Parts: sequence; C-alpha cells; structure tokens
Amino acid sequence: MRRRALREEPLIFERNQLRTLRQGVLLPSLDVADIEPTAVLPPDLVRDDVPLWPDLGELEVVQHFHRLSQLNYAVDEGLYPLGSCTMKYNPRINERTARLTGFADLHPLQPDDQVQGALALMWELEEALKTLTGMAGVTLQPAAGAHGELAGILMIRRALEERGERREVVLVPDSAHGTNPATAAFAGYRAVEMPSGPEGTVGLDTLDRMMTDEVAAIMLTVPNTLGVFEHRIVQIAELVHRRGGYLYMDGANLNAFVGRALPGRMGADAMHINLHKTFSTPHGGGGPGAGPVAVSEALLPHLPVPRVERTDDGRFRMLWDDPSSIGALRGYFGNFLVLVRALTYIRAMGADGLRAMSDVAVLYANLVRHRLRKAYHLKFDAPSLHEVVFDDNRQAVRDVHNTDIAKRLLDYGFHPPTMSFPLIVHGALMIEPTESAPPEEVEAFCDAMLSIAREAEENPELVKTAPHTTPVRRVDEVRAARQLKTRWTPD
Ligand SMILES: Cc1ncc(COP(=O)(O)O)c(C=O)c1O
Repeated sequence: MRRRALREEPLIFERNQLRTLRQGVLLPSLDVADIEPTAVLPPDLVRDDVPLWPDLGELEVVQHFHRLSQLNYAVDEGLYPLGSCTMKYNPRINERTARLTGFADLHPLQPDDQVQGALALMWELEEALKTLTGMAGVTLQPAAGAHGELAGILMIRRALEERGERREVVLVPDSAHGTNPATAAFAGYRAVEMPSGPEGTVGLDTLDRMMTDEVAAIMLTVPNTLGVFEHRIVQIAELVHRRGGYLYMDGANLNAFVGRALPGRMGADAMHINLHKTFSTPHGGGGPGAGPVAVSEALLPHLPVPRVERTDDGRFRMLWDDPSSIGALRGYFGNFLVLVRALTYIRAMGADGLRAMSDVAVLYANLVRHRLRKAYHLKFDAPSLHEVVFDDNRQAVRDVHNTDIAKRLLDYGFHPPTMSFPLIVHGALMIEPTESAPPEEVEAFCDAMLSIAREAEENPELVKTAPHTTPVRRVDEVRAARQLKTRWTPD
C-alpha cells in the first residue's frame, strides 16, 4: 500500500471558527500615516465586514496543505498513464533553470537590450523546434495546444485571404481531439467530420470525395489519438495541396516520433507542439503550458507578432509590427518559463536522448499492448506508437465497465488511463505510459490491469464497487457535474 492512513479534517476556512487567535504572520508595526480606505478607493469597493481569516500558526497551515497534497496523485508518485496527455516526469534541472533570477524576475516591458539572454533563449528554442520538425518557422506565443491550433488555422485563413479565397470547411477525422473541431468553429469554419477507415486512419478515397474546393484545411493528428500513425500522410498532403487546401498537423503527440521523422517532409503546413507534453513541464491540474506552432514556407509571413529576431551583429530584438502577420495572440511573449523548461530539457537530452525518448515511449506502449491484449479488447488492431486504446467489451458481459476498471486501479495505487476517448471506441481505456517511468513500474501497472481483468471474471462486484482503499470512495459523478460547488461559503 502506498499511502498512510488519512484523517478527516475541516477545510482551513472552517478552522477559524475555533477562534484560537493563533497567528501565522507577524506584520511590522505601521510606520506611515494610517489612511482611511475611502480616501483612496471608490466607496462601493470598500467593505465593512472583516474577512474570516483562519486563526492558525504557520506549522498548522503547512501541515494542512501538505496533508491535502497527499490526497492527490502525481507524476512524482508513480505511473500516470493518462492517454493523450503524455504525463511524463519533469526533471528537476528544468526547475533550477526556470528559477534563475535572470529568467524568473524579468518584466515583459524591459527594453530588448536588458533581456538579451531571454531573447536568445527564445530564438534558440525556435531554432531547435525548426530542426526537430523540419519546418521553416516557429511562433512560441500560444499558451497551449488548443491555442496553437487557433494560431495555425488563423494563419491558413490569412493565406487563403491573400489568395482572394474564403473557403468554408475544415475537415476533421472522427478520431480527433475535441479541440480540433472547436478550433475550426472558433476560427469561423464549419468543421466536417471524416470517418476513419477500418485501420483507424484516414482513407484516401474518403479524402478524395470530401476534399472539395470549399475545404480550407484538414486537421490531422499524427500519430492519431488511437496511437496509430497516418501511414499515407504524404499522399494525403499531396491531395490536399493539389486541391488548394492546407494540411494542419496536430503535433500534440510528437513524443511518438520526435527525432525519427520530420513533419516538414511529410507536407505539413502548420503544426502545434505541446511543450508541456513532449518537452516536459509540471503538467496536469491546469498549470501553464505552451503550444508553439511550426509552419511551412507558405505560412511564414503570417506568423504572429511579437517575433524574436537575430540581427547581423548577433544581438536579438523583438519585432512588434508586421502587416502580413495575424497579429498578437496573447499578452507579450507566451508562457516564458515553460519555454525555459523546454529548452533545458531539449539541451539536457541532446539529439540522441530525444531519439531514445521516443523509442522508449513507443516500446512501453507496445509492451502494455502485448501484455494486456489477451485480457482486454482492442477495437483497432493496427500497430501502436506512443499509446494503445483498449476497450471494456470483454468485461462488459459481466456488467463491469471502463469506469469500474479505472476506479479499481486506484486501489492498486495507479492513476487510471484516459477513458471514453476517443469517441470512436466505446468504453475506451486509453493508455500512454510515456518513456519516463522505470520498466518495473510499467510491468507493475500491467500486472494490476491483468489482476483487475481476473477480478472482473471472478468477483465483478469487487470491481464495480471500487475504490475501496482511497480516502474518497466512489463519487457521484452526475451530481458532481450538475451541482458543481467550487467555492466554500460560511453557513
Ligand atoms: C491530440 C491533442 N490535440 C490537442 C490537444 C490540446 O492541447 P492543450 O490541452 O494544451 O490545449 C491535446 C491535449 O493533450 C491533444 O492530446
């Protein structure tokens, strides 16, 4: 068992009712004139009531939050095989570089000559991403993968406008991440779903039929969310280009082939990279990410501003204006400290390390596939890259479903896989071990999954009522979704 016993305790804001008058902070006495709040603030923003601060000493606060953190599961604790999320380890050296004062304490309005190191870092990261993708240019601005998708599709829209074309449709395969159709709609297009063929990939006949002169772009995830590589990608790109469209490649799964293949050579026009997946960063829980976009020559003029430039004397400057650019996508330069972590990771791994990384990611996914395939059903039995998608078909005959399997995994001390996605696999269990876990951990996860498959046969009730060992048992998910309460208020 991984955890010690956990205690029930009130929230920190409920503790203040004890009125112990303990204090966590001693403020220095006021040595300037005391000002009435209404003298400096608009009266309607001044409140009379005293907030209910908890009366707690520092140690109590530290212990409370430390105990709460123990209720959580983290990459630093064990395998986190959440498919499509690439929950890899964030090496500590990333944190050391991100904390260097020369990076951490910068202000985005500092003049270029005071932040040459930061600009050099961004330039180097762009160059590294160009090398790793084989594309002509990169923007580091987007704050996440979905934001990168928007940047890419807006650049495609702009390129079409320059050609005097509008086009209305973006094609999105049915295996795509939900952000793809949402992006197309957000950028003003109609997202039209393309059915996958029997191997889970895009069929050339289907594309030929659907790729009309109304189609601005196809958004293709490579490898797709089934973990299957679009092996006809070059023919797909040729067909799309022949009909005047663009190939948007969702590169969120770059971890599967970085260092082994170049999207630029496959014919991609734009591709986002989730730095917070492939190039590590503390991930999950909604922390900041970064979704740089790499583009082909065709879209180069439309990259967002500001853009970092290297001048002839080897110095760096920010370019803020460019009439052919789609403009700025967010304030300033992106989530800069995520960029610091990504370049640290790339440099620490080196070219050989990055190649080994994707090799091991693919090896582990295939290890899981090989060990579990007799116990769990595989709807699409094509070769896997970085992840493998099983379903609960075999267990469903005993009324055990993917949620039950995921909950039972918690009893074995593992984070569950992604469930019910992609939508084309009913009862999906999508497993992405990533390369960063030790092999014994991947084997232990497989042992747990096999043991659960046996339990589903012999004692289905045990699985259906899981988890049994966690501090919070099975939650009422429908009620949690319908009666969402995210803010504590006093009674
Ligand atoms: C295939 C794919 N596309 C797009 C995204 C969206 O990325 P983000 O969550 O950073 O917006 C993800 C997220 O993991 C993904 O797996």
